[in-house]
Amino acid sequence: MLLALAAAAAIAPGGRAGGEPQRRGAAARHGMGGDARGLAAGTLPPARREAARARIAGALSSLPLAIRRAGGDAAPVAALAAAARQGDWNAFVAATEALQRGYPHDLATIVSAECSAARLLVGESIHRESCAACHDAAQPDAGLAARNLYEQFASTPRDEFAARLLLGVRGDRSTAYRNPFSDLELGALMLWYESAGARPALPDRVSRSPR
Ligand code: HEC
Repeated sequence: MLLALAAAAAIAPGGRAGGEPQRRGAAARHGMGGDARGLAAGTLPPARREAARARIAGALSSLPLAIRRAGGDAAPVAALAAAARQGDWNAFVAATEALQRGYPHDLATIVSAECSAARLLVGESIHRESCAACHDAAQPDAGLAARNLYEQFASTPRDEFAARLLLGVRGDRSTAYRNPFSDLELGALMLWYESAGARPALPDRVSRSPR
């Protein structure tokens, strides 16, 4: 009973475990780990390496404050920054994973939204209205430019993509730059990218913006 209440509190609007800053901090660490894994593997094209380094530098600069706000100890960030300076991405990945274990985050509502025709329609219309203008015309290797989200979904672990959705969608001044979409809407977007990837017509979709 208590557990059920705690779980309900964790997903109630505005009552998420840890609140929005903590959640964004956790998502940033997740994205950072993904970027560092790409750098450690040494398989990213040069422009994407630069983009990954830039995102890591950005995440590192806001991390101490985010951890302090969540009531945590920001000391481990120094080790992360040192590993990044030395370009020791394997050490960096290990350190992010250790940090992540201390601050579990709740992407489940985004990652495991149940698929339905109505939800796919929501995902498709959000993408067309709010994302396609920048992301469908994307050049794959253009550094910090917008990437093709269908391709990014297909080449990124689900959790990491959800974390990137949470961070990549920033809203505007009217939302204080907070992500304006609910978890269910972000989940619908994931389902849309997933269903589009599962269709044989993917190359067509990727080269032309879907209409
Ligand atoms: C005005 C142009 C623009 C619009 C509109 C836009 N984006 Fe982006 N987006 C970008 C650019 C530029 C980047 C790359 C810079 C960066 O990673 O911060 C980006 C990055 C991202 C990322 C990657 C973040 C990361 O950490 O890897 C995701 C995911 C994303 N956008 C999703 C979306 C979704 C979903 C929408 C629609 C709801 C959207 N974006 C709308 C320009 C845009």
